[in-house]
Amino acid sequence: MANEYYEKLIRCRDAVRAKTDFQPRIGLTLGSGLGPVAETMDIVATVDYKDLPGFPVSTVPGHAGRFLFGYIGGVPVVCMQGRVHYYEGFDIHDVVLPARVMGLLGIKTLFLTNAAGGLDPKMDIPSLMVIRDQMMFNLPNPLMGPNLDELGPRFPDMSDIYDPALRKVLHETAAKLGQKLEEGVYIQLSGPSFETPFEVRYFGSIGGGAVGMSTACEAVAARHMGLRVCGISCIANLGAGLTDAPLCHEEVMAAGDAIAERFSALVTAAIPAIDKA
Ligand code: HPA
Repeated sequence: MANEYYEKLIRCRDAVRAKTDFQPRIGLTLGSGLGPVAETMDIVATVDYKDLPGFPVSTVPGHAGRFLFGYIGGVPVVCMQGRVHYYEGFDIHDVVLPARVMGLLGIKTLFLTNAAGGLDPKMDIPSLMVIRDQMMFNLPNPLMGPNLDELGPRFPDMSDIYDPALRKVLHETAAKLGQKLEEGVYIQLSGPSFETPFEVRYFGSIGGGAVGMSTACEAVAARHMGLRVCGISCIANLGAGLTDAPLCHEEVMAAGDAIAERFSALVTAAIPAIDKA
């Protein structure tokens, strides 16, 4: 597996390199409903995932499937519009392949975003949450299998998986913009069903801030490679059972629309500061 998979990573990187020699310093992964951030980007090149041999392509509505290369606030960035999820049936190694390809393209920092369900009934909907720490529940660790020594060590430390200096930058940026920004622990579940009310009460009771179906496995793969990681969850709804309303994907997408402008302003302003931190 190791060699075949590593060869696929290199093939994907080389296929991107054959289309553009743009050198990004930050990778930005956009979650469900958050794609419009890319409108603030000064785009230099676009690469469709389907044109990269072996690259996983999402089947979820609301997820475009392409890398955008260009500048945000003058900083060279590669932006992922669309990502794949474990619940789509992909192998966990393929779920984190895009993060690893961005690492091989030379990014220093991976900025992960997602839509998530809030675990604290007092949270505003929609709102934004800086990810302080994380937990993966009911899905395999993406580093399982033979270690890819070319990428990182067998037993990587995850103490500061979300870089403390970058979390500070996100809070300072939000304060400058007059935006409220929560901070909390993100819990990734496999999905695709939303959680039960019991699961939501349980994850809230152990200190979780939000639940979702992405991000944590990508953060682990990125830290394995020594990348700095930061993340923001768009709290699109309260977790199941915290309100009377049933959950649906349309609500998540609508929350993305409702917060798109605020989210874009925060990300756009934070990127130059992240680049300097
Ligand atoms: N649970 C899991 N994932 C989500 C949710 C949720 O409530 N909302 C948006 N993504």
